[in-house]
Amino acid sequence: MLIRRPARWAIPERDATPETVFLNRRQLLGGAGGLLAAGLATPAFARTEPEAPIAPELYPAKRNDAYKIDREITEKRLATTYNNYYEFGSHKDIWERAQDLPLRPWTVKIDGMVGKPMELDVEDLIRKLPIEERLYRHRCVEAWSMTVPWSGFALKELVKLAEPQAGAKFLRMETFMMPDIARGQRQRWYPWPYIEGLRMDEATHDLAFMATGVYGKPIVKQMGAPLRLAAPWKYGFKSIKGIVKFTFTDQQPKSYWEQLIGNEYGFYANVNPEVDHPRWSQAKERPLGASSDVPTLLYNGYAEEVAGLYAGMDPKKLFY
Ligand code: MTE
Repeated sequence: MLIRRPARWAIPERDATPETVFLNRRQLLGGAGGLLAAGLATPAFARTEPEAPIAPELYPAKRNDAYKIDREITEKRLATTYNNYYEFGSHKDIWERAQDLPLRPWTVKIDGMVGKPMELDVEDLIRKLPIEERLYRHRCVEAWSMTVPWSGFALKELVKLAEPQAGAKFLRMETFMMPDIARGQRQRWYPWPYIEGLRMDEATHDLAFMATGVYGKPIVKQMGAPLRLAAPWKYGFKSIKGIVKFTFTDQQPKSYWEQLIGNEYGFYANVNPEVDHPRWSQAKERPLGASSDVPTLLYNGYAEEVAGLYAGMDPKKLFY
């Protein structure tokens, strides 16, 4: 977010290696190292069980054609190797480090102003809710973009489950804290944990989506497994990854980026090509893998669906 780096498209090893082998490589190596150190195994027999994916039977989910878009789907290899996830580093090349994140156990807490506070395993939560696939645009505030087939459930389904009280005006979401594993969290000048929030009418809007899968499979760790928000009309930093807690509140949450650089990143963060970031233009974007820029659209192309949410509000507030 602070520094724009050139894309690093080519990863020959990934091209040459089957995905399952590739993604489990760290665990295999870690397991082999431990056994060898203990003198218990030779490399030929050194194996650990790979972590079982979360609710794999749900994918590929049926595509909901109401969310079709007129852009090419970004190549999976690009979307899964060019990521923002500050918990694992403040650069784009974190996908490999993110494989260390354990997804089991993963408890999700729903608390605050709700009729039904709960703590449940993420797999139980996902299996309770209707999973579907949607094609969404994603526009990062850094002026790159992608088009991704997310699988998951409408966030309003989770809201329904929690039975919010009438006074709940916002939904605050929080990422895990595991500084032993996510080394970025040892950098104390960042305001961990990562926090994001939506107004309740945004959270219950049809477009607000909780991604649990991508490209027809359970979502990969670098893209936010096991739970990641997709709010496609907002800049990408609103799409919080690795969520462990949902809190219903009457207070507007102060998000991670607002805490860090409040004069550059606001609460609403709706995409608008006419309102520049204080340090660069937002008029255009570069789709991952493309060789030239394309114009950025108001609300990232979702104006028809969401503009009504903001009728009568001060436009300055909406776009930063
Ligand atoms: N969520 C957490 N917890 N930590 C992060 O650093 N980065 C955000 C968002 N969610 C971020 C996060 C930003 S700036 C963007 S653009 C998107 O994740 C990137 O998603 P992607 O890596 O799947 O493309």
